[in-house]
Amino acid sequence: MATERTLSIIKPDAVAKNAIGEIISRFEKAGLKVVAAKMLHLSEEQAGGFYAEHKERPFFKDLVGFMTSGPVVVQVLEGEDAIAKNRDLMGATNPKEAAPGTIRADFAETIDANAVHGSDSPASAEREVAYFFSADEICPR
Ligand code: TYD
Ligand code: MG
Repeated sequence: MATERTLSIIKPDAVAKNAIGEIISRFEKAGLKVVAAKMLHLSEEQAGGFYAEHKERPFFKDLVGFMTSGPVVVQVLEGEDAIAKNRDLMGATNPKEAAPGTIRADFAETIDANAVHGSDSPASAEREVAYFFSADEICPR
């Protein structure tokens, strides 16, 4: 296992629930470190570009609408096996299928407002971290 970085987004539904701290606490308790963070209210262009891989999917328009519906918190998480570890903490895309105790099981009800995003591979982590953060905004520790 290697030290990795991954991009995490606390989505508008979880921010609206005032769950930022509880969610970040789960990352920290699992040994992941926040090495960059900011709150943003995404534009349609920013959200659409971020989710460009889903552009042709039927849910794309709603996804962009949801992601621009309120502020989000974007973070870079660093740690051993950070990409898979974050996906494990998040749970399945559909909260109804997410394992008990995962973030999506505990903070989300529907697939279209599912509390968190996490990069799904080293290649997407690299792209997604660079999408939101310049090198000098990341603070190794
Ligand atoms: P996806 O990358 O498949 O899931 P994940 O967030 O677990 O990596 O999809 C991106 C987001 O698109 C997902 O978090 C919620 C939304 N989405 C829907 O609204 N409906 C769907 O059927 C799917 C597959 C995703
Ligand atoms: Mg995905």
